[in-house]
Amino acid sequence: MQFKRRTHTCGELRESKIGERVVLNGWVDSRRDLGGVIFIDLRDRYGITQVVFEPAFNKEAHELAKKLRSEFVISVEGVVRNRPEDTLNPNLPTGMIDVKVDKLIILNEAVTPPFQIKDNIDVNEDLRLKYRYLDLRRSKMQKNLLLRHKVYQIVRRYFDENNFVEVETPMLMKSTPEGARDFLVPSRLHKGKFYALPQSPQTYKQILMVAGYDRYFQITKCFRDEDLRADRQPEFTQIDVEMSFVDVEDVFEIVEGLMKKLFKEVWNKELELPLPRLSFNEAMEKYGSDKPDLRFELEMVKLNDVFANSEFRVFNNTIEEGGIITGLLAKGCGDYTRNQLDVLTNFVKKLGAGGLIWMRVREDGLEAPVAKFFSEEEKQALIKQMNAEAGDLIFIISGQWNKALTIMGNLRLEMAKRMNLIKEDAEPSLLWVTDFPLLEWDDETQRFYAMHHPFTSPRVEDIPLMDSEPAKVRARAYDLVLNGNEIAGGSIRIHDSKLQSKMFEVLGISKEEAEEKFGFLMNAFKYGAPPHGGIAFGFDRMVMLFAGENSIREVMAFPKTSSGLSLMDDSPSTVSEEQLKELHIKLR
Ligand code: AMO
Repeated sequence: MQFKRRTHTCGELRESKIGERVVLNGWVDSRRDLGGVIFIDLRDRYGITQVVFEPAFNKEAHELAKKLRSEFVISVEGVVRNRPEDTLNPNLPTGMIDVKVDKLIILNEAVTPPFQIKDNIDVNEDLRLKYRYLDLRRSKMQKNLLLRHKVYQIVRRYFDENNFVEVETPMLMKSTPEGARDFLVPSRLHKGKFYALPQSPQTYKQILMVAGYDRYFQITKCFRDEDLRADRQPEFTQIDVEMSFVDVEDVFEIVEGLMKKLFKEVWNKELELPLPRLSFNEAMEKYGSDKPDLRFELEMVKLNDVFANSEFRVFNNTIEEGGIITGLLAKGCGDYTRNQLDVLTNFVKKLGAGGLIWMRVREDGLEAPVAKFFSEEEKQALIKQMNAEAGDLIFIISGQWNKALTIMGNLRLEMAKRMNLIKEDAEPSLLWVTDFPLLEWDDETQRFYAMHHPFTSPRVEDIPLMDSEPAKVRARAYDLVLNGNEIAGGSIRIHDSKLQSKMFEVLGISKEEAEEKFGFLMNAFKYGAPPHGGIAFGFDRMVMLFAGENSIREVMAFPKTSSGLSLMDDSPSTVSEEQLKELHIKLR
């Protein structure tokens, strides 16, 4: 079809162009028919321009314009003029002008869209995902994707300026269990064999260090077959980074420099460096999370000392079993009703707590069902330790260290919501969490797992503990946390094959199994592996937070649903017998 190319975008024209002849191409955003004059808001990704059809000006164009409906694609030609007084729109960049049209070409018609193309629509997310191309026309989604684009560019520029080399690593690789489940790809050429999609480029980037590319980065897709949540997708994007001849401080410096740039260029905020750091233990005991949200205080308090000689059996047992008694002070919540307290008790019980102890702080002491179990001394010590005053409410949870703290951490977030502590305009909270345990014990399988991954180096001074008290060994691992979200994680790696063997041994991975799964990496390490370490950012999560969104799906062009479906192209889908046969696969 013949049509004139646009001379301007729909976001471009201003009063300085009045009197000029222009051509605009775009989609019909809305149409108003006012007493014979037709007003169209014409949209493209740059903005909206009002175009006008008057029979007196051009009868033919006006006649054709009667056919226009939402989302028709059109080309118009006409003259820029001052908008009529009653249609001036100071909120729109193009709101002082419009285009009086004498030529209209309908480039394509459109069926009625299943939802309106505008912000703040009340539409089921599944429908948005099915018609993603329409959803992506909305300005909010465009803003998010453009922000994402901007962040890619800042990241690439930053790493390039700092001498990093961008290297692509394969999407078809060996299945090397990294924590989540692999997505497998059957090989046609090698019957019965499979590639795996990378959960991350971890092994490749370490091998690149052996190869001498001492500063590597990549913006890359990763694939994990795990249960999905608002901040998790089966395929997601990482900014992957690895460096040679470095220690933790060097990785921090590079990452902090990037965050400073992003804060400035995205939010126009000065980020103060160095970033605050919390050890894993401190983060857990104060905030009940390894990704604490520090936009508000509400610190948890360890109460083991207060109840060291308690007659109260629950506390007694906890202390004997090496557990923790943790308290949370809800300022001014002493008037919570029994009903409200029951709701909160149920909240923690659902998370696995045996119960929730609460105490109202009164002028004359503590009021609570359990108050009778405590001596006056203990009550006074508790009030002092919690820094409580009359009118406050104290919560206490006791039990196994990790579990009790995590549950209290959840209650902390819940109370922050109820007490309205997270203000819209709160300064962002960005910090490092360090000194994670190297290993995590799993009761079910009765073995240790690597908390980060099996290539993570222990702290040198903790190496002797690997035999005697593996649970106490700290890792040279770190996470970067923004507003209570883990946006990056990494570690200094093991580059010594003896230490790596020790690690496999502690993990219960036999020599044969290690050889079979990681032999290629161990082999590479025999040829001169430099000390190295790195980090990977969850790119989608970071952009989500910069965009002020609550779900990573809002910053991904074509995300999957929470059950892993792509509603637009209807995948996963069945395949033909022929395809299966070629892949030597028979479905049961
Ligand atoms: P890790 O597994 O911690 O580390 O991943 C790094 C970051 O990726 C993000 N992330 C996800 N984002 C969206 N959907 C998911 N399913 C998902 N899983 C993880 C998180 C996380 O912080 N190879 C190591 C990095 C290293 O040691 O250098 C790794 O992948 O924001």
